[in-house]
Amino acid sequence: MGSKTHKLPLSSIENLPFTSKTNEEKPKISCVSQSRFDISKYCDLCEIYREELAPTSVSVATIQSTTQKVAIKKIYKNCLVNDFQKTQAVQECSLHHSLDHRNIVKAVEWGEDDDAYSLVLEYIDNPTYFKEKIEDNLNPVKNELKLKSYMHDVLQGLAYLHSKGIVHGDIKIENLLLNTNEDQEQPMPTVKLCDFGLSRKLDKDTGKFFMEFPVGSLSYMAPEIKAKAYVDEKIDIWALGVVLYKMAVAYKPTQITGYKYGSGPIPFRKVDWRKRSPELQYLIVQMLNTNPAERISAEEALLHPWFKEECLSQEIV
Ligand SMILES: Nc1ncnc2c1ncn2[C@@H]1O[C@H](COP(=O)(O)OP(=O)(O)OP(=O)(O)O)[C@@H](O)[C@H]1O
Ligand SMILES: [Mg+2]
Repeated sequence: MGSKTHKLPLSSIENLPFTSKTNEEKPKISCVSQSRFDISKYCDLCEIYREELAPTSVSVATIQSTTQKVAIKKIYKNCLVNDFQKTQAVQECSLHHSLDHRNIVKAVEWGEDDDAYSLVLEYIDNPTYFKEKIEDNLNPVKNELKLKSYMHDVLQGLAYLHSKGIVHGDIKIENLLLNTNEDQEQPMPTVKLCDFGLSRKLDKDTGKFFMEFPVGSLSYMAPEIKAKAYVDEKIDIWALGVVLYKMAVAYKPTQITGYKYGSGPIPFRKVDWRKRSPELQYLIVQMLNTNPAERISAEEALLHPWFKEECLSQEIV
């Protein structure tokens, strides 16, 4: 699947004055931010993610004093070619650290040393679940109850972000992480959003932000994303519409021969959709509305009939 990300400089996440909304579920690790990063607090570092030429790596580590597992995302300074990219890295760390929601990976600390900016994150125990299942093994989420639970989680995270005037900007399968050992009471594992490297703050007056160049992951980019365009949080909903379709059938709508976004109704091949509830298709159609003003919001999607109990009778396993 071509999900190459074009990461371009962010121009204006101004000063990041985000208030940290407290959730019922507190992170189990105390949160501190510091400018000098002290790696000696952490031991047993083991790299779990590194792409060639990319400026980031992610490692699992243990906090020496508590033996608690964390993930450390490093953004290497020698890969950042100008001050703009350095500012962008600081903004990613600062923005992520300001967020506090059950469906967003918790950032517990960030700082820098001579080599890198480091962001210490709550450890997520099955981070590549969706990528491996859907993208590598082409195995859709057949159980609609599970699909509902995953989507409900992501929409709650997005509704929180959007209510704070923040656009994620890079919603895709790889940035949805699955945590299986969060809450023993919950029958379903929890999905959490990660990677705020392309996040932007909406202008308070216009409710939009200016995009100098198209930015995002190719197959998830909303049609309104163009050079020198004003866009808003609905770009996240479009991307999530692509994710939802992919989770349901393990391919994206544009893989159906002859179909391009906007060229006609979203294609739902009978063979793949006959056991799916019509409400699910309807939600996808509303998320993939090419007009952002008419596209459903995260708040509205959470109230969608697909999530209502009467639809649960039609579950497939
Ligand atoms: N808290 C975490 N716990 C476990 N694994 C994580 C965590 N955060 C990130 N990862 C893993 O590392 C990968 C890369 O992280 P992230 O998306 O933040 O980095 P990136 O370099 O900005 O990504 P991209 O490839 O989108 O540019 C994730 O897709 C996930 O597999
Ligand atoms: Mg990512």
